[in-house]
Amino acid sequence: MRMTPAVIFAGSVLILAAVVTIVVVLPFYHTNQTKPSEIFRSRTAAEKAGRRIYINNGCVYCHSQSIRTLDWGIGAERIAQAGDYVADRPILLGSQRTGPDLSQEGGEHPDDWHMAHFVNPRYTSPLSIMPAFEFLGKKKLENLTAYVQSLGFRAADKRVKRQEKWKQRAIAAYEQGPVKNVQWIHDHLPAPWRKLPNPYPTSDAGLARGHKVYQDFCMGCHGPIGDGMGPAQPYLYPPPLNFTILKDRGVSGGILYYQIMNGITGTAMPYFKKHLESEKIWEVGNYVAEYFINQSDADTDDGGIDAAYEP
Ligand code: HEC
Ligand code: HEC
Repeated sequence: MRMTPAVIFAGSVLILAAVVTIVVVLPFYHTNQTKPSEIFRSRTAAEKAGRRIYINNGCVYCHSQSIRTLDWGIGAERIAQAGDYVADRPILLGSQRTGPDLSQEGGEHPDDWHMAHFVNPRYTSPLSIMPAFEFLGKKKLENLTAYVQSLGFRAADKRVKRQEKWKQRAIAAYEQGPVKNVQWIHDHLPAPWRKLPNPYPTSDAGLARGHKVYQDFCMGCHGPIGDGMGPAQPYLYPPPLNFTILKDRGVSGGILYYQIMNGITGTAMPYFKKHLESEKIWEVGNYVAEYFINQSDADTDDGGIDAAYEP
């Protein structure tokens, strides 16, 4: 065939049409077929307002909202589906994980934890590099909290309800005074944990490591002297526990371990099972026991586990 101008023109148009079909038309058709996933629901007005604040403040530059099949290692519960985001424009999948993935953040913490955390992330998480958002003001932070609590849609709604149910009970217990409160907190623990002493020997190095963990993870709430008066305290209700009230209440190393590992649903007390290795949990528990409760059962039966630092 001769390359006349007409043939070149027609050929170019054909190539362009093919490219546009493959790159634009087919993907557009395909994504329009996406059906809402089983957890999808539409957002409330407050959640939508919070989403705009999330976009305006660049949260997406540090947080992804997409758990992928290769993310099981970060403790994924559910792989994000295209159908989760059918109503969102733009979709905020994100590409950076400077902070944790938020696709299932709803119900991880109660609202008061988020308020304290947004005002200043160092209050709840002393090592955090997330910027403080106190300048947004109370109303906007409430909307932002509503949005963050909606991440995970119906799956999150269940967790949020659970937090709210337990929050009411935790507040009721707190308002009955320290003795009843501590009794209530311990009532939920499985019996074997309540009797379990800390299996590690108390040592200066162990206490120093526990001190470090306390400063890095606990001090913003429980305070430098363990009286519950850390900078997060004004935002949290029930407030962080004052450890000094635990003396002579039969608090075993096992109770401390269980609470630090699992957190206390409905209160701001987070779980640390994803952040701290087992030995660090025992050590920070013993630090709290020795320095704030003034009573430790570490290695009382002389049969303690030799720490991993032994040669
Ligand atoms: C500079 C990066 C950065 C930016 C910007 C940022 N974050 Fe974070 N975010 C982090 C880091 C790091 C953490 C983990 C430490 C912590 O808890 O603060 C975190 C933690 C969080 C958590 C707690 C997750 C959990 O359950 O432990 C939430 C919720 C959150 N960010 C929401 C937001 C929102 C909403 C915005 C925007 C208003 C935002 N972040 C902006 C880095 C960032
Ligand atoms: C965001 C705030 C916050 C952080 C951070 C936090 N706590 Fe708590 N903690 C609380 C609250 C709130 C309670 C429960 C108060 C209540 O219900 O009266 C609590 C309760 C506890 C209890 C329960 C005591 C018992 O007798 O059952 C232990 C133990 C504890 N915290 C240890 C820690 C340790 C150790 C860390 C750090 C690794 C830590 N907490 C970090 C807020 C926090």
